[in-house]
Amino acid sequence: MELINQTYQIQGLALDQIAQKYGTPVYVYDGAKIQDQVKMMQQAFSDVKLKIKYATKALSNINILKLLKQTGAGIDAVSIEEVMLGLHVGFDPKDIMYTPNCVSFNEIQEAVKIGVMINIDNIPMLEHFGKAYGGSVPICIRLNPHIMAGGNAKISVGHIDSKFGISILQLKNVLKVVDSYGLDVVGLHVHTGSDILEAEVFLKGAEILFDAAREFSGLKFLDFGGGFKVGYKEGDITTDIMQVGAKVSEAFKAFCKSYGRELEIWFEPGKFIVSESGYLLVKANVIKSTPVSTFIGVDSGLNHLIRPMMYDAYHGVINVSNSTGEEHVYTIVGYICETDTIAADRKLPTVSEGDILAIKNAGAYGFSMSSNYNSRLRPAEVLILNGKDHLIRERETFDDILRHQVDIGI
Ligand code: LLP
Repeated sequence: MELINQTYQIQGLALDQIAQKYGTPVYVYDGAKIQDQVKMMQQAFSDVKLKIKYATKALSNINILKLLKQTGAGIDAVSIEEVMLGLHVGFDPKDIMYTPNCVSFNEIQEAVKIGVMINIDNIPMLEHFGKAYGGSVPICIRLNPHIMAGGNAKISVGHIDSKFGISILQLKNVLKVVDSYGLDVVGLHVHTGSDILEAEVFLKGAEILFDAAREFSGLKFLDFGGGFKVGYKEGDITTDIMQVGAKVSEAFKAFCKSYGRELEIWFEPGKFIVSESGYLLVKANVIKSTPVSTFIGVDSGLNHLIRPMMYDAYHGVINVSNSTGEEHVYTIVGYICETDTIAADRKLPTVSEGDILAIKNAGAYGFSMSSNYNSRLRPAEVLILNGKDHLIRERETFDDILRHQVDIGI
């Protein structure tokens, strides 16, 4: 987003015009930013055989998936429904990594039929898999590296007490199952968490993957998961992708040499690809001063963007309708019957009733975690591509609130 002649714009389109055209609340995504992020990653890992498997759960609109497909990326899917979304937009099953957690074996069997790469995250499932398929279907194994990292306890998933992956301490048990069924293990996977800043965390994960990999002879790829930290706050330090790329690639190449085979390196970024591309445009319904605060009550809330409430996440806010003049301190809150503070104590140029605010970093885990809480409608989504705005999801209507409810006539 740029500020040109006191107007906030994406690819030359003014955000207040977008809000006027589509109404608020509305999610707006900058397609060029998404393409740039992919390019940056490809550049950072240009020295190794990189495969990007975009984490679909971050933002799963079919047009975003199509845009990513055009960049040459594949996807990571965590449910059979996300796998189906991938197929729907034309991904080849071989470009889809299926990384489920605690699903039934039936769902895994469905994925086998479709032909996607299956990432197995527990030993009982590995046993089921061995009994059903032996070595006839290639698989990946998700290891839990026991690394505590990530921006928030709720999104740190690689520690010893996490439900994800198979403990690295249980590698011997894994090898036993692999041997007894002759499983065809072609990949190993770790994902330590989200909002990870340091290259060292990825390098630590790499060492653990490399050590484990030496126990398998038929590997084709190692998957480092996602988790690159993006900037949420002005002045935030963010992952230096070029530095991470250089350091991890160097270690990876050295490992491949000792392994005797050039493996592919896979990553599953979500936030890095889409977080900064997205803005949630909302309207100030009311400016309400109390003896201690000035609240801006907007036409959205935790039903549309749950991150501030769920993770105490910081999201920058811009007054799209007024970019200059005296600043005041405001607390931006939603219209939900809960304390749904979106942003506390923010300095903004004077906000008046009816002004449009843009909530930043709303591309990742924004719409995809939205709900109908308080029987509110989910917002529309707009993609800006090649200087044009495209409606990519209609705003819900009251019919959507009633859909699937069964009136039993009492
Ligand atoms: N791969 C796996 C196996 C994952 O579990 C995740 C995220 C990713 C990749 C992508 O991570 P990313 O690059 O987006 O950090 N809703 C939370 C984030 C949850 C992430 C869950 N797994 C949030 O809004 O912060």
